[in-house]
Amino acid sequence: MNKIFSGIRPSGKLHLGNYLGAIKNWVELQKSPDTERTVFAVVDYHGITTPFDPKTYHQQVMEAVLDYMAAGVDPEKSILIRQSKVPQHTELAWIFNTITPVSWLDRLPTYKEKIEQTQGKYTHMGILDYPVLMAADILIYKSNLVPVGDDQLPHIDLTNEIARKFNHLFGETFQTVKPHLTEGARVMSLQDPAKKMSKTGDEGIALSDNPEVVREKIKKAVTDSGKEIKYDEDKKPAISNLLTIYQLLSGRTIEEIEKDYEGKTYADFKNDLAEVVVDFLKPFQKKYSELKNNMDYVDKVLTESEEKARVIASSTLKEIKEKIGI
Ligand code: AMP
Ligand code: TRP
Repeated sequence: MNKIFSGIRPSGKLHLGNYLGAIKNWVELQKSPDTERTVFAVVDYHGITTPFDPKTYHQQVMEAVLDYMAAGVDPEKSILIRQSKVPQHTELAWIFNTITPVSWLDRLPTYKEKIEQTQGKYTHMGILDYPVLMAADILIYKSNLVPVGDDQLPHIDLTNEIARKFNHLFGETFQTVKPHLTEGARVMSLQDPAKKMSKTGDEGIALSDNPEVVREKIKKAVTDSGKEIKYDEDKKPAISNLLTIYQLLSGRTIEEIEKDYEGKTYADFKNDLAEVVVDFLKPFQKKYSELKNNMDYVDKVLTESEEKARVIASSTLKEIKEKIGI
């Protein structure tokens, strides 16, 4: 039986990449007979490691909660929390800090990217320490399965290194953690298929985009040379990405879709893809606005979930503190 944990930073509107690479898996896992428990978090302490506006941050966190629920995270089946409301995460992160060599952190690709983005200026400890808090998020619930996109794999490896070191120093406590990836694990930018779809810029489709915006973005998406609609990641990265999105949202196979578009143009294909995306987003957006009009219910879900989470987390922390003699 699996104990599942995952989290997303509340750093902007969720996009199709977040949905297909992460949340879609969450929704499936919470229903699986092999699942013992699912905990999903809006990781608001991770969110403050990059620039944010304190005036709107609370609202941004709540919008992320609404995004999760509208996308299908079911409070009857899953524990849905804001990371900062379960202080045991940060307490455990501190303990892990004392057994994590800096050299395990400054070699991570995510950290190196951040340093490059800031032209080598070392910004603050939080950026370096980010993956240690992530390890604590996962291990405080003794989770063994973590649904994420493939960019997070080095962080899962680090989580296991920290767990192994803890077990070695203080006695067997944590099991091995495995990542859970699906085929949609990497959705690329509509403007540059060499880059991942992201929350910044307009290259991503937000789950909240209205039909006009979706149609416009897909119309403007770059395509490859030639005119065949064929899946070929090397020669046709842009069309392959659009085919992947089409496949994942329609539930049809790539072969079926390719066959449908034999002899048709990129424009035909894009028009239809836009409607597939619009139809897919409709129920999500309906649910989102229903929840938004019922914030008392959302608050109640969070209060109950966070209480449950604190009970589990404090039991792990008690065991750990005893093991280290605190
Ligand atoms: P982020 O938006 O970077 O905070 O990522 C949140 C989650 O969504 C992580 O599990 C990522 O791996 C996943 N994710 C982000 N962008 C993409 C993408 N373009 N394709 C697939 N998964 C993604
Ligand atoms: N680091 C993840 C990201 O940037 C977010 C995250 C924080 C996370 N804690 C986690 C993901 C625990 C999975 C499990 O996307």
